[in-house]
Amino acid sequence: MRFFTVFDIVKNKADQLGHTEDEMYAFLKKEKLNKKDLLAYQESGIIPTDEKVLNGILNYLDMSRVELELKLGRIPEGFEDIFLNNTKEIAKILEERNSVQEEEHNPIPATQPYYSSDLGKLYNGDCLELFKQVSSESVDTVFADPPFNLDKEYDEGVTDKISFSGYLDWYYNWIDECVRVLKPGGSLFIYNIPKWNTYLSEYLSRKLNFRNWITVDMKFGLPIQNRLYPANYSLLYYVKGEKPKTFNVQRIPLQTCPHCGKEIKDYGGYKNKMNPNGVTLSDVWSDIYPVRHSSSKNRKFNELSVKLLDRIISMSTNEGDVVLDPFGGSGTTFAVSELLGRKWIGFELGNCEIIKDRLENKEKDRKLFEKVYEEKNKLFPDKVKELRKKNSLWTDDDFKTDTEKKETEKDTKKSKDNFDQISLSLK
Ligand SMILES: C[S@@+](CC[C@H](N)C(=O)[O-])C[C@H]1O[C@@H](n2cnc3c(N)ncnc32)[C@H](O)[C@@H]1O
Repeated sequence: MRFFTVFDIVKNKADQLGHTEDEMYAFLKKEKLNKKDLLAYQESGIIPTDEKVLNGILNYLDMSRVELELKLGRIPEGFEDIFLNNTKEIAKILEERNSVQEEEHNPIPATQPYYSSDLGKLYNGDCLELFKQVSSESVDTVFADPPFNLDKEYDEGVTDKISFSGYLDWYYNWIDECVRVLKPGGSLFIYNIPKWNTYLSEYLSRKLNFRNWITVDMKFGLPIQNRLYPANYSLLYYVKGEKPKTFNVQRIPLQTCPHCGKEIKDYGGYKNKMNPNGVTLSDVWSDIYPVRHSSSKNRKFNELSVKLLDRIISMSTNEGDVVLDPFGGSGTTFAVSELLGRKWIGFELGNCEIIKDRLENKEKDRKLFEKVYEEKNKLFPDKVKELRKKNSLWTDDDFKTDTEKKETEKDTKKSKDNFDQISLSLK
């Protein structure tokens, strides 16, 4: 599918007429429009609301508003009923033209992986090309953290600034590939800034089943003048088909004051009903922090935390399942997949040596992983529990019968043994 803005339609018309950009603006000037009047429609999908601007543009395009809306790929406002009552005729016109060719999936000759482990393979190249090597319905979870088109610096040959509609077109193309390779019931997670995810969500909702729009609360820049300070990323979570084939509930600790150990939110009389394994994770994640410190960073560009990827992969897959990440970056998805015993497929257009290095030296990731598991699936991590007991505050131990306490100890030991087993296989 192509995404067009009003600016694109005007630019296409200029190309048809053989106008240069300057000539195009000169013609618009005759309609009393400035360059900025048109540029305002370069970075958004909306139609001008200002009559003067809209009419000027329509005059240059030599079309009606209805035609412009059709060109933008929409059913014109107010014509929905007519459109729906005439779908037979419309379909006939489209089918007669038969311009839409059946797209064929042609697997390309296999590219050699840049790096392989017992669990996964990393390929160096453009994801759109590499996707062609992946069989349909063969992946359990896709996680994608693409460049955000913010003109950020990446490796040579990797651009992070293309046109608004060019970015969306590119996005829709690789999203189609993600949808194709997912198994029925497989999960797709897409991490981006909210602005892009609004468009992607609309596109994805036609192909997959919406589960959650997860808000990852994180300050990621400087305040912008005349705007709200951007402090969240959006993580879209979709599944192929009716319901996910795997959904493992994730639990997090109760939020407490780091100094006194008191709970930050009042849970009132419900404390004895709280699950000792922690609070059920919501769709607002406030406990994920940016990887900034040089001791934990694997490269100078963007990198996501082990905690975020552990959560996504643990939630949507089981041991032995296949995880695919088309934008490898520093390799967080692959490092976590290895630690969790998941198979993985990775692509990266830029430098793959950093990823290879990271996967061959897992000590740092193992330590980060251990830290994540110190808090995971516990109402109070051990240190917090100690602090609370010292300050005579309740803990889940107060509400357990002796049998329950023994059960919890057994469970804790079992999950520790599992974890040690995973860790051992990495040494
Ligand atoms: C935001 S970073 C991913 C960071 C990663 N999630 C991590 O935790 O390290 C996006 C990555 O996508 C890569 N990239 C950009 N365009 C690509 C393409 N067409 N195919 C494959 N990789 C691409 C960039 O080189 C960059 O490393």
